[in-house]
Amino acid sequence: MKVAGAAGLVLATGGLGTLISGCAVEKEKMPTLNYPSLDPTDLKNFVNPLNLPGKTGLLGVLEGTGKNLLLTAKQANLSLIADNQANLFVYDVSDGERRYTNPIIKMKQGDTFTASLLNNLNEKTIIHWHGLHVDWRMDGHPSYAVGKGGTYSYNFKVQNRGGTYWYHPHPHKITGRQAYLGLAGFFLVEDSDDITLSNGLDLKLGETDIPLVIQDKRLDEKGDLVYRPNQSEMFMGYEGDVIFVNLTANPLLEVSSRIYRFRVLNGSNARIYRLAFLKGTETLPYYVIGTDGGLLEKPYGTSEMFLSPGERVDILLDLRDLNMDDVVVLKSLAFDPMHREENSGYGGHENMNMETVKLASGKEFNILKIVVRKSSRYDKRVPGTLSTIKPIDLSGATTRPITLSASGQQWLINGMTFKMYEYPILVNKNTTEIWEFINEPSSMPHPMHLHGFMFQVLERINSPEKVKQLAVDQQGRQVTDLGWKDTVLVWPGERVRIAIDFTHSFAGEQVLLTHCHILEHEDQGMMLNYKVF
Ligand code: C2O
Ligand code: CU
Ligand code: CU
Repeated sequence: MKVAGAAGLVLATGGLGTLISGCAVEKEKMPTLNYPSLDPTDLKNFVNPLNLPGKTGLLGVLEGTGKNLLLTAKQANLSLIADNQANLFVYDVSDGERRYTNPIIKMKQGDTFTASLLNNLNEKTIIHWHGLHVDWRMDGHPSYAVGKGGTYSYNFKVQNRGGTYWYHPHPHKITGRQAYLGLAGFFLVEDSDDITLSNGLDLKLGETDIPLVIQDKRLDEKGDLVYRPNQSEMFMGYEGDVIFVNLTANPLLEVSSRIYRFRVLNGSNARIYRLAFLKGTETLPYYVIGTDGGLLEKPYGTSEMFLSPGERVDILLDLRDLNMDDVVVLKSLAFDPMHREENSGYGGHENMNMETVKLASGKEFNILKIVVRKSSRYDKRVPGTLSTIKPIDLSGATTRPITLSASGQQWLINGMTFKMYEYPILVNKNTTEIWEFINEPSSMPHPMHLHGFMFQVLERINSPEKVKQLAVDQQGRQVTDLGWKDTVLVWPGERVRIAIDFTHSFAGEQVLLTHCHILEHEDQGMMLNYKVF
């Protein structure tokens, strides 16, 4: 057993079978949870040491180069809250003596990644490497899902830029449940720009360069996870009322007065965050240095942003001006979530939802409490340039409209839902296209994701006022639109134009997916195959 802090997370490694069967007996004695002690709107609750990536264990950093990894998807018992046991799904990986749970896989650009999935769950699964430019047979298309006891082998060259990518399951109709129950991990790619940045700012992964996966979950009174979306929650997305970062509920991070890099992944099924750092009531500025597909050309100063499911943002936070014991809180600020239930013919939803989820969409709450505990002599400067991003050449590009709408309780892309062996979007290899996502005004926000190819956001048209206010240029783009992307949030009434270069060197035609990254939407079929041939 590894104990990560007294009030923190207890992780059971090894002998999980025994623990699971022993658990039924133990359950009687388990303390019951009361929501007020977990309520993320109350900063007093933020006392649990944030789970940080170490050399092993939960979120341990695993160098993937030159290994043939076995990732076993299995059930495991973890304590998410105090002594209460929760049944999770995890990726269990061994590397020699070291055991990992949902490891942070680290690769250098250009290196070959070799791994196998072993499915020890009682249902089908497959791993998708979110953001990676790989042959589609390596991409975790749901048609490749394997059943209990099944395996799937992966072998690909890591072609992507340095950046914060991630992996998660992708079986048809049950991705939301499997990811929610714990199957997700970071996949970090390092390139020379990345190394320059780390050296220049003296950043160390797990200490001052910290991946943060934010997830909202619901717990029962025993501390076990609850995933039981009703029809309305399948339509609106399943949100939780306890906020986890790196699987630590109500986390606390002790820091020294210097620059920190946070690589934030919204790993939630459906919740959008409006991220800001606050010291008391004062909003602290921070730098955005990267997006889904790695570093920006230069740091961009901001004080808030929206981050939707599937998206990543790379941030620098300068804590040098702070004093000992100062507290900074990473919060999600209040916003209108634009869940237009009435308009989409879904009256009743608000009330139904209130009964089950205590933390309404768009409500303000805390995510991570940061306390300055050490002063450090730190004289590094945020660099003026980070990397280069070549704009996609749009000469000859054709525009393809992608409409997002609903019919009854079903979300649609171009009026269609997912069929495993239908290919409604056909793209010619080695061409460039502009995809224009057009979200109906009466819709809700949809984070739209593409497999296989990274894209560039060109323009946002007709954005809602709160989004317009955060625009960083004439094109209405957001700070999260400035780099390479694989997921882009499309608000109701908005048109978002993206550029995609479909040049690739993979053999044969590629069957890839575009879908909404609200996982309940994906599971109910807000997803289409697209074929590049
Ligand atoms: Cu992160 Cu198809 O998904
Ligand atoms: Cu993906
Ligand atoms: Cu959606």
